[in-house]
Amino acid sequence: MSSVVHASSSSVIVSPARGFRGSVMLPGDKSISHRYAMLAGFAVGTSRLTNFSTGADPLSSLGCMKAMGAKMETVGKTIEVTGTGGVLRSPKGDLDCGNSGSTMRMLAGLVAAQKGTFTFVGDESLTVRPMERIRKPLELMGARMDLTDGHAPMTVHGGKLRGIDFEAPIASAQVKTAVLFAGLQAEGVTSIAESVRTRDHSEHALRAFGAELERVDGRLRIAGGQKLKAIDATVPGDMSSAAFFLCAALLFEDSNLVLDSLGINPTRAAMLDVISAMGGVIKVLDVAETHGEMAGTIQVNRGRVLAGIDIGGERAAQLIDELPVIAAIAPYTVGGVRIRDAKELRVKESDRIALVVKNLRAMGAEVVEHEDGMDIPGGQVLRGGVIDSGMDHRITMAFAIAALRAEGETEIRGAEAAAISFPEFFVWLDELAMR
Ligand code: S3P
Repeated sequence: MSSVVHASSSSVIVSPARGFRGSVMLPGDKSISHRYAMLAGFAVGTSRLTNFSTGADPLSSLGCMKAMGAKMETVGKTIEVTGTGGVLRSPKGDLDCGNSGSTMRMLAGLVAAQKGTFTFVGDESLTVRPMERIRKPLELMGARMDLTDGHAPMTVHGGKLRGIDFEAPIASAQVKTAVLFAGLQAEGVTSIAESVRTRDHSEHALRAFGAELERVDGRLRIAGGQKLKAIDATVPGDMSSAAFFLCAALLFEDSNLVLDSLGINPTRAAMLDVISAMGGVIKVLDVAETHGEMAGTIQVNRGRVLAGIDIGGERAAQLIDELPVIAAIAPYTVGGVRIRDAKELRVKESDRIALVVKNLRAMGAEVVEHEDGMDIPGGQVLRGGVIDSGMDHRITMAFAIAALRAEGETEIRGAEAAAISFPEFFVWLDELAMR
């Protein structure tokens, strides 16, 4: 691997590999880190968070909590967060969420019940992402929100909230979390019904910080007026970051990958089923649970063939962050990959359907684009090409993995985007890929 700096962004050149072997412990899960940052910043007392995500996105959440009065200190590998005891300060300036949709949407729920005005801004990509989805439930609860054409800049005028019964129209853990965080502070009970069961880190994190919530007949219920207490926690490794290396391990017959302390919360572990279905042989060792989150050591080898897969329905929602890398290795499968019901991919950090299609074609692959997914035939030979990351971290990393089996070198433009969730990605890729 080598790096090239262009005028406005940096490129990384990824050369093909002969195998993929080694053992790593991944930085903390991005989704869990966001929630711990927010709830620790809101709680009474000092929380100690170890193996917190190294990605830029969760740092945006910490930065916003700091701007609203939480105190932070890094002590060795631990971040100590002293919370505001449930009263957030109106920040002096805008709350800068950077590239992070999670920060903007979940924090909107947390501040909706607070006195004051909170203006959220983000980078170019975040500024075009849909925010109406949180405005609707939060306004029903009694907050007032100003959006700019349905997007950020977004101002939340906080105030007294009342509980609502909310039927979530889209599968989104961020929207669910915004409503839960508002419900925690509302008058009465808030209940939420999800059409698809999304990641449940907020439910576990709220309970860990001392809140009571229950699931009755498929509805989540949280009573308002609850106070949170600080915790000590170690964040398990990030499954969505692991997905890149798991897919790389599928590309080579004699691969062997060991991932220590990886988060295997069942609402996030659909990727392990995909790896098995595509021919990976997985062993799960040393499973432990802390604060409701399961973690374990995962060993993966590849079986005889790299099989194709069909992904749709509920599965597509549960694998939403992993679909780009599954698509990127699809041409190398026997049988191909078909993805449907994944329209949400179009409103992530980039239009991930369009960019995956464009970049697969740049490597010479045949692919059919659909509004809600794509069909990628198997048995294809890819050649190294020039990849446009669209400054999207998951596109960057997905195509670095596709490059490992391509003929010739691949240049990934805008490769620094990986730092949004996984700054160490290229260093570890280089260690694990056998050349
Ligand atoms: C996340 C939920 C998902 C996911 C995002 C993280 C979370 O987004 O794509 O990377 O931490 O709750 P949606 O809630 O928009 O589906």
